[in-house]
Amino acid sequence: MTIEATHDHALSRAATATAVIHPAWVRVTHWINVVAMTVMIASGWEIYNASPLFPFAFPRAITLGGWLAGALLWHFAAMWLLAVNGLIYVTLGLATGRFRRKLVPIRPGDVLADAKAALTGKLAHDDLAVYNAVQKLLYLGVILAGIVIVLSGLSIWKPVQLQELTALLGGYDFARYVHFSAMAAIVGFLLIHVIMAFLVPKSLRAMIIGR
Ligand code: HEM
Ligand code: HEM
Repeated sequence: MTIEATHDHALSRAATATAVIHPAWVRVTHWINVVAMTVMIASGWEIYNASPLFPFAFPRAITLGGWLAGALLWHFAAMWLLAVNGLIYVTLGLATGRFRRKLVPIRPGDVLADAKAALTGKLAHDDLAVYNAVQKLLYLGVILAGIVIVLSGLSIWKPVQLQELTALLGGYDFARYVHFSAMAAIVGFLLIHVIMAFLVPKSLRAMIIGR
């Protein structure tokens, strides 16, 4: 190996060692979102219990707010954090090209192949900077569910002022089901997502310190 080659090699190794997997804006908005989502889910469940859409209620121990009015206050406080933080994340995701680079394209064939590889324990997680097709689908899906839950939330919060939006979502009663379904999708995502974050080595570290 020539001196230049050795030098180049060392340089590229140093570059890999310090390469940022998740830039600061992704990490900060991600963890603010975790706080906001936790408050929104737990207070949403208490709101639900006051007038359940289905024949079940959420256990009091995992709801927030104590009663309907308390839960609504939590819900309306954290919604600003959730919406503003989400808007920053989506704007930067589009503007910086991160979404284009990391989340698309999603090919159905790749999703099937990667899902099969994951279930048989053959899916490589060696490069945390590149998402596999299942990850892309789930991340894009939860971002869309986040947009749907904010729009449906606005439509049931101000059904008179935002009546066009409420009408678009099938009217007040239907919008409540839309809002609930988006919550169920987000909670379902969360269960898988958190398990994976703890199973895949270094992925949690990368979302905290960036690399
Ligand atoms: C801008 C964001 C949001 C707004 C404006 C909003 C607004 C509302 C309003 C006004 C209600 C009361 C509906 C009623 O009286 O029946 C509600 C209920 C609820 N929200 Fe949200 N929400 C937002 C985000 C979220 C998020 C992020 C979650 C959870 C991931 C969530 C989960 C729930 C649940 C589970 C209910 C009870 C469902 C029901 O029984 O109708 N919300 N929301
Ligand atoms: C305690 C809860 C959570 C933990 C421990 C966690 C952990 C992580 C980790 C480790 C990553 C990077 C994973 C990877 O390399 O694929 C990640 C990415 C991501 N998480 Fe979470 N997460 C949590 C909650 C949430 C919630 C509530 C949402 C949304 C509803 C969410 C949405 C995302 C998205 C969209 C990404 C990809 C971000 C990007 O690359 O721009 N996470 N999370």
